[in-house]
Amino acid sequence: MNSPEDVSYSVDTDASWWRQASVYQIYPRSFSDSNGDGLGDVRGITAKVPYLKALGIDAVWVSPFYPSALADGGYDVDNYRNVDPRLGTLADFDELAAALQTAGIRIVVDIVPNHSSDRHEWFQEALAAPKGSAARQRYIFRDGLGENGELPPSDWDSKFGGPAWERITETDGTPGQWYLHIFAKEQPDFNWDNAEVRGDFLRTLRFWSDRGVDGFRVDVAHALVKDLSEPLPSKAELPQEGTGVDGLPDGSHPFWDRDEVHSIYAHWRSVLNEYTPPRAAVAETWVHADRRSRYATPDGLGQAFNFDLLQADFDAEQFHAIIVKNLAEAASSGASSTWVLSNHDVVRHPTRYGLPQSGERRCRDWLLAGGPASGVDTELGLGRARAASLLMFALPGSAYLYQGEELGLQEVGDIAAGERQDPAFFRNPGVAIGRDGCRVPLPWTAEGPSFGFGEDGAHLPQPKWFANYAVDAQDKVMGSTLEMYREALRYRRLLRTEERLTWVSAGDSVLHFVRPNGWQSVTNFGTGPVELPEGIILLSSGPLTGSKLPASTTAWII
Ligand code: GLC
Repeated sequence: MNSPEDVSYSVDTDASWWRQASVYQIYPRSFSDSNGDGLGDVRGITAKVPYLKALGIDAVWVSPFYPSALADGGYDVDNYRNVDPRLGTLADFDELAAALQTAGIRIVVDIVPNHSSDRHEWFQEALAAPKGSAARQRYIFRDGLGENGELPPSDWDSKFGGPAWERITETDGTPGQWYLHIFAKEQPDFNWDNAEVRGDFLRTLRFWSDRGVDGFRVDVAHALVKDLSEPLPSKAELPQEGTGVDGLPDGSHPFWDRDEVHSIYAHWRSVLNEYTPPRAAVAETWVHADRRSRYATPDGLGQAFNFDLLQADFDAEQFHAIIVKNLAEAASSGASSTWVLSNHDVVRHPTRYGLPQSGERRCRDWLLAGGPASGVDTELGLGRARAASLLMFALPGSAYLYQGEELGLQEVGDIAAGERQDPAFFRNPGVAIGRDGCRVPLPWTAEGPSFGFGEDGAHLPQPKWFANYAVDAQDKVMGSTLEMYREALRYRRLLRTEERLTWVSAGDSVLHFVRPNGWQSVTNFGTGPVELPEGIILLSSGPLTGSKLPASTTAWII
């Protein structure tokens, strides 16, 4: 066996590089700030390419860096083919892409096709143009109900709370039509029946592909096509959604997961296949598990996120069922599976696993209670998180990790209301706290301004305890979470093998599997130590006690 250091980092023309990649999500405004304005930027990312290379990832996925008013952290895009001036320029982007390529790291960018920002030139044109005009056809405008159109076209709620329709003022100053926004009101939904909209996104795909981008993460991929035939159903008549894996959309909803959406992705695929190697794409799909693979076929986007592990408790039975199901699904679509434990939309997994109760309400209740540090067993949470991450890295398929998880970073639960930025917080008073707590700028150094994030503060407040998680506090420290991730990711590259696993029977609270090359992963989800299987121990997520695997620990054995 080669030593991990011998692994080649060359970026070649391999068309299937994404199938078992380790993809690191960068939330650019919170990653690294090169110019001291409190916002992370493109040059900040470029400066950290050596860090990313040492981490041992295959690709980065960069969340939106496009011009934006930040009504939804950049997912409100003013212009799809440029860089936000506060984050840099297209030349800076080219430099980043080149630096990553030299380091052998691929780059995936986020594309947000369901909605633009209300500052997008097309939306501004639509506001200035009359009812029924071609400019309005690119979005979803409707007359209101009631005598004077004063009522929204339907009583639907937006995803972030509050109504899904917003009334505009016409150019003559009179109250006018309404437009649909299934997210914040600053995010008007595009009309995907419109040829110009369809054409423009193909242009955007080519624009970034021509600049050397290796793939795309497609935001709310299941929302683009809508059935808005009149009369619109009331919200009481809409199919149930959003109540867990089985309550997710199943194609019968007027705007989630409609069958017709796949013709859009068939077009996209033909454009992505114009490149060598074909550009990869991964769909963000909060849909019923049985319908997810439709987004992941080779004539569609090619891969789709499943968020099943991210919604599961630290529980052997749940993990087992999810892994079995998703591997079977991947086999049926021809894609490889995806695995995610954290991203920019959810409470970080070391915190999730350290909260007392299990299930869906766990994080929400803690956040609503003010996110008190006393409510989290950080040690237990971190131990479980490290065990879960190591298990994930041994699975066939792509592992998507989120910036800061390699530091074992915890959620910041107690951000003051006045400092919060997430529209979900403002549109849902008392119901949702939002996602700012996982978006707090990273600690690079235990000391110095904004823990090394930048020279002059951070756009979300960093708590004092961030010092304990700083990169320089963990670098070359044996047993640190950062060193565990580095070693795990190096081994993951080195041991990459066929996309299969075989389960080895173990106790109820233990998951043990072996990959075709003999690489074994065993996780103890229980509360007491269990016997370790025979073999050479490559790595473990926590200290081992003799021949025993302690509770909340994973070991890799060969
Ligand atoms: C996706 C993004 C999320 C964003 C939403 C609307 O779910 O991950 O951050 O708020 O889409 O664009």
